[in-house]
Amino acid sequence: MARMIFSNGSETRDLPVIQRRLAGIGITLRHWPEPATPRARELLAMAALSDAEKEELLGAVDNRFEELKKEAGYTTRDMIVLHEDIPGLADMLGKFDKIHLHTDDEVRYIVAGKGYFGFVEKDGNQFMLEVSAGDYINVPANTEHWFTLGDSKRIKAVRYFIDTSGWTPVYTKRAMANFG
Ligand SMILES: [Fe+2]
Repeated sequence: MARMIFSNGSETRDLPVIQRRLAGIGITLRHWPEPATPRARELLAMAALSDAEKEELLGAVDNRFEELKKEAGYTTRDMIVLHEDIPGLADMLGKFDKIHLHTDDEVRYIVAGKGYFGFVEKDGNQFMLEVSAGDYINVPANTEHWFTLGDSKRIKAVRYFIDTSGWTPVYTKRAMANFG
């Protein structure tokens, strides 16, 4: 469940409050409980997954993909599995931990682990959003944001794409607020 963290140190887990604040910059957040069958739980608890295991887990949540295809024209999905033993993890994450945007929506359904998005409001104010299992988020194209894993170093998320070529980060060179 999501947690919103403000630069003055305060925070909230109140979902309607978080949803309203995100809606102000066009972002959708939904609570979609992660799959809970014994096999899904087993896969979600593993650090690394083979391609076949990723497909198995994707299959368990393809009802969501069907909804998104109908709702907004998403065409492909894959699963990203990050953990502390991936070679080059820091370099990979280093592409996204500075303020950037994409020309396609950034759509993630977190099924295990956690991570942190940072967002910029219209007045320049910045806040962070901790996302964890059960959080679906749609960050629209051209929305300034950043993403880090924080201390956890583990996340499993489904990525949904309209057009994967829009996935390259475009850096806006805006300075990030200090969240301590
Ligand atoms: Fe991004």
